[in-house]
Amino acid sequence: MRVMVVGSGGREHCLAWKIAQSPEVEEVFCVPGNGGMRSVGTCISLSSFREMLDFVREKDIGLVLVGPEAPLALGIVDEFLAERRAIIGPDRRGALLEASKVFAKEFMKRYGIPTAPFSIFDDPGEALEALKRRQNYPAVVKADGLASGKGVYVVQDFEEAAFAVRELMVEKKFGASGERIVVEDFLEGEEATVMVLFDGASYLFLPSSQDHKKVGEGDIGPNTGGMGAYSPAPVVDEDVLRRIEKDIVVPLLEGMERENLYYRGVLYLGLMISKDRTPWVLEFNVRLGDPETQVVLPRIRNDWFEVSLALWEGKLHTLRLEVTPEAMLGVVLASRGYPGHFERGKKIEGLEAFPNRPGDTVLLFHAGTVWQNGSFYTDGGRVLNVCAFGKDLEEAYGRAYEAVSRIHFEGMYYRRDIGFRVLKNRGAR
Ligand code: AMP
Ligand code: GLY
Repeated sequence: MRVMVVGSGGREHCLAWKIAQSPEVEEVFCVPGNGGMRSVGTCISLSSFREMLDFVREKDIGLVLVGPEAPLALGIVDEFLAERRAIIGPDRRGALLEASKVFAKEFMKRYGIPTAPFSIFDDPGEALEALKRRQNYPAVVKADGLASGKGVYVVQDFEEAAFAVRELMVEKKFGASGERIVVEDFLEGEEATVMVLFDGASYLFLPSSQDHKKVGEGDIGPNTGGMGAYSPAPVVDEDVLRRIEKDIVVPLLEGMERENLYYRGVLYLGLMISKDRTPWVLEFNVRLGDPETQVVLPRIRNDWFEVSLALWEGKLHTLRLEVTPEAMLGVVLASRGYPGHFERGKKIEGLEAFPNRPGDTVLLFHAGTVWQNGSFYTDGGRVLNVCAFGKDLEEAYGRAYEAVSRIHFEGMYYRRDIGFRVLKNRGAR
């Protein structure tokens, strides 16, 4: 069968790489793909869902996988389903679990899913008044709509809260996404990511993971799309996983059924695990995480085409995931200046050492790269993901950073402390 992967980041490179290993997959089309994805498939730019549908028909593509949230929130699944094309993901209404924090919070409240207590505001004056009266700081102010992970402000006092309200609701930094806001209690604990495949009837847990969202070492500075990740997340042990299943996944799926949400895809749970080991939902995403995918999918031994087809056909209950006991840790190499202004077009050296064969200890997934005149050049803020296996996270850490030392481009920036919260003895670097 021919398969299409929509997206152009490290997550999509990993997904295309993984699915291309299936003997059932003849060809992978990447829309639009990136410099690295040309080694696993055919990259093509298509600018609308209409063009994608025409292409799918013309090339007889049997299954479409969508990486990022934006096309899901815009209804790509609705359009493909209307023409009876196989596509994985929620429809536009299901995607509201990510695209509207107000929708997600109210949904969680209806079904008793543990999440921080919250209030919703659509008027800046009322928001400011409530925040002035508020006793309980720190608090968290969130834009309702999509903001590339940047619409969340952890605020220490009223001054900071007022700044967030002004940016979101008055200056409209994220446009209509900030017209409504959620204000919620600050939760303490350790964060973790758990992704679940859900086919409308049954579900399968993917291995746990954790990303580092902040640009700076020690988790400081502005938020980014993610500077690195590791899997498993040690905080998600058997007991915590059982609680996630019982208190979050089961009521979530019951709620989705009751409200008739169409969902065949990946549910991403962004969690805070509190000291008493209660898992709380910080956010839902309706797709695979980036950069978590790059350290989660390679740990899964199953044929990803088989898994994806079972997801589409509602046959997840027939599968068991086989996960390697090895850990994986991935480091993002970014362009200097990211997540602010950065330059593109820098030549990247040292990539020949990473052929990405199945079973390799180090895997390299491209994000913002292009291939021109026989070389790779930078073409985005996050450029590469260098991911390594190890018998534990310590070994994976050492191998990943050893590999990073072999890669170079002008202005290459990366955090040297990925995994610091869980590494027993942080490597030598
Ligand atoms: P979100 O996009 O809602 O996951 O928020 C982005 C980041 O903000 C999370 O990964 C957390 O680090 C932090 N965050 C969000 N909500 C809370 C909360 N209620 N308590 C503490 N930290 C939070
Ligand atoms: N790594 C966080 C996300 O994918 O949204």
